[in-house]
Amino acid sequence: MSRFLADLPISPPDPLLGIMATFKADPRENKFDLGVGVYRDESGNTPVLAAVKAAERHITDHQASKVYEGPRGNAGFCEAIETLVFGGQAQARAENRVASFVSPGGCGAIFLAMTLAARTSPKGRIWLSDPSWPNHLKIAGAAGRDALGYPYMDPATGTVDFPRMMDALRHAAPGDIVIFQGPCHNPTGIDPTVEQWTYLGDFCARQGLFPLLDVAYHGFAQGLDKDMDGVRAFLDACPETMVAYSCSKNFGLYRERTGCFLVQTTSPRDAEAVASHLADIARAVYSMPPAHGAAIVETILGSEELTALWQSELAGMRERMIVLRGQLADALNVATGTDAFTPLVHQNGMFSMLPLQGPVTDMLRIQSAVYMPASGRINLAGLTSETIEPLAAQLAPYLQAALR
Ligand SMILES: Cc1ncc(COP(=O)(O)O)c(C=O)c1O
Repeated sequence: MSRFLADLPISPPDPLLGIMATFKADPRENKFDLGVGVYRDESGNTPVLAAVKAAERHITDHQASKVYEGPRGNAGFCEAIETLVFGGQAQARAENRVASFVSPGGCGAIFLAMTLAARTSPKGRIWLSDPSWPNHLKIAGAAGRDALGYPYMDPATGTVDFPRMMDALRHAAPGDIVIFQGPCHNPTGIDPTVEQWTYLGDFCARQGLFPLLDVAYHGFAQGLDKDMDGVRAFLDACPETMVAYSCSKNFGLYRERTGCFLVQTTSPRDAEAVASHLADIARAVYSMPPAHGAAIVETILGSEELTALWQSELAGMRERMIVLRGQLADALNVATGTDAFTPLVHQNGMFSMLPLQGPVTDMLRIQSAVYMPASGRINLAGLTSETIEPLAAQLAPYLQAALR
């Protein structure tokens, strides 16, 4: 008998999933989960949004068929996401220059982007912020692309290190793909200013770069419209831009795999060409996109009442994270006797970086039941008003050593 699998090595587990599993198994009562990449409420749950529940009831009552929707998926959903991203009045939409497809989550959209770009510029390399979300590198590899990093954060100020970032990006060659994250950069929580977004869009257009804006936390920073100011400024400055949009976090649809891939082009012909390639790429991987999550989002955004309910639930998530940021910054400043953590307040979304890396994070896990990835990224949504001070006390000696 042939044995195809006997020599197959066991692939190392995703480090973050490993951390989640050890956290669950840890019997200590006072443990801190800063690793998981999902939103949690004050009781540590990730509930289904009431707007989603209501939309699901509507779908169950009215859906007449489960037949395939076609390679683009739900057109009503795609148009609703176009409106969220571009706003109602965008010229590119009025002129039929936008292609949009349902994708299996934001990851599916990023995969479509990298594969499409491989067809338009086969030698193009991918530029990622350093640090970035580790899955960008994985998806680049899966799409057969080489990846390079550009510096992103200035640890001293907790803001974008724009001069160093631009020094690196000046080495990008025409045809290269540059990934920028929309609001709430993962893992730093640091976003460019609107002026920087405009500069970046203009820079990409002039250099002949093909940008991908990865929008996974829309509504988590300052509000639905405000959060798109930078993305829209970029789209105004750079006529050919790809956008990967995830509904996992802002609609709480994680497991439904709901995303949208959008491409702004310069002509209706180009949009049609893009759509034909997206259908072809998807056909070979998942053929047709999942429908349920897209139907939920379409139902919510198609109803004034459900949209208002969703927006208030989204505001609740956002406000909780803003409060936690303030509380954590205060607690860490007091515990370390510094003001080094004030920048946390100006960062956005669920994530920020602490100056704790590698072996220190192992020690924290073993000695203090603090679970966080070796990169030093923390998810603030894993905290509650009660856990912040005890956490700050556990972190203080390590942070003081790092600041010395
Ligand atoms: C930066 C970033 N992009 C994209 C995604 C896409 O997630 P999903 O495929 O679950 O929609 C995530 C999720 O964690 C993310 O952090």
